[in-house]
Amino acid sequence: MQSDIRRTLLEMFTNSKEEYVSGQKISDMLGCSRTAVWKHIEDLRKEGYELEAVRKKGYRIVNKPNKVSENELILGLQTKKIGQHVHYEEVVESTQKIAHRLAQEGVQEGTVVVAEEQTSGRGRLDRVWHSPKGTGVWMSIILRPTVPPQNAPQLTLLTAVAVVQAIQEVTGISPQIKWPNDILIEGKKAVGILTEMQADADRIHSVIIGIGINVNQQQQDFSDAIKDIATSLAAETGELINRATLMQTIFLKIESLYEEYLKNGFGLIKVLWETYAISIGKRIIARTLRGSIEGWAKGITEDGVLLVEDDLGVLHHIHSADIELSTRK
Ligand code: BTN
Repeated sequence: MQSDIRRTLLEMFTNSKEEYVSGQKISDMLGCSRTAVWKHIEDLRKEGYELEAVRKKGYRIVNKPNKVSENELILGLQTKKIGQHVHYEEVVESTQKIAHRLAQEGVQEGTVVVAEEQTSGRGRLDRVWHSPKGTGVWMSIILRPTVPPQNAPQLTLLTAVAVVQAIQEVTGISPQIKWPNDILIEGKKAVGILTEMQADADRIHSVIIGIGINVNQQQQDFSDAIKDIATSLAAETGELINRATLMQTIFLKIESLYEEYLKNGFGLIKVLWETYAISIGKRIIARTLRGSIEGWAKGITEDGVLLVEDDLGVLHHIHSADIELSTRK
């Protein structure tokens, strides 16, 4: 079904709340025959919508699929760009992989790739990202910022701020950010962000922002390997969260911070990031590929690089590491 027809149809059902919408009204709105209306209704049923049809009254939706499909994301979306084009799949290896291909094909900025399940979800440093079916948000957003390639890491921090704000708004929880891109609740990881780039030496073609959020898993759903370090929004709130609403809120937060960033630079985002960051001002251990550095996390630079001062007073610029809070004072 064409997406504009689908959008009009779903809007009609949503606006009519529980009331029936007559076949005649639908055919007038869509400008098509009653037979065509019936076909569109069948298409929605195939997509998992339960529609009740009553003679002389019309149709109404009695149940929606628990999916993050284009339909669910379009309704009520308030953004201008982000999420206006959605590439939805049930199962993929990784949404990053598809987003890279679409970016190369030249899709619009703000296009989102989302899947119910990833079979090879990947994290930073080539780690595995567990992405079970229907419980999380596994998505990649394509941006084309007009900034130099060395500034791309700022977009990871911008995304982390947007996701924290969206989680706060939707669930009431106040998560914290662990540099560079982990979002934690009560010390356990609920969200990971992976930023990848297609660029020349001096120009970004696209930035692919991968966001993985544990949303509706229960604590016992996590494998032994991660159960002590991972959590989900549902496990923390005791309530199931509507994934589409969460995604729409994230799109809106990213869009407004991204506009601010392109207009006024990184300043505000840096300040916001530091207010949500767990480690700034604390004693930490940063494990890099070249060894560990222990010291005080002083803040981040304009490029999102972590500054750590060791016990000899030497200031280290940490570009990539895993960090943990030190128990030493
Ligand atoms: C990390 O914490 O190491 C980053 C995890 C990023 C996971 C997301 S899920 C959607 C997108 N597709 C992937 O394969 N990875 C990212």
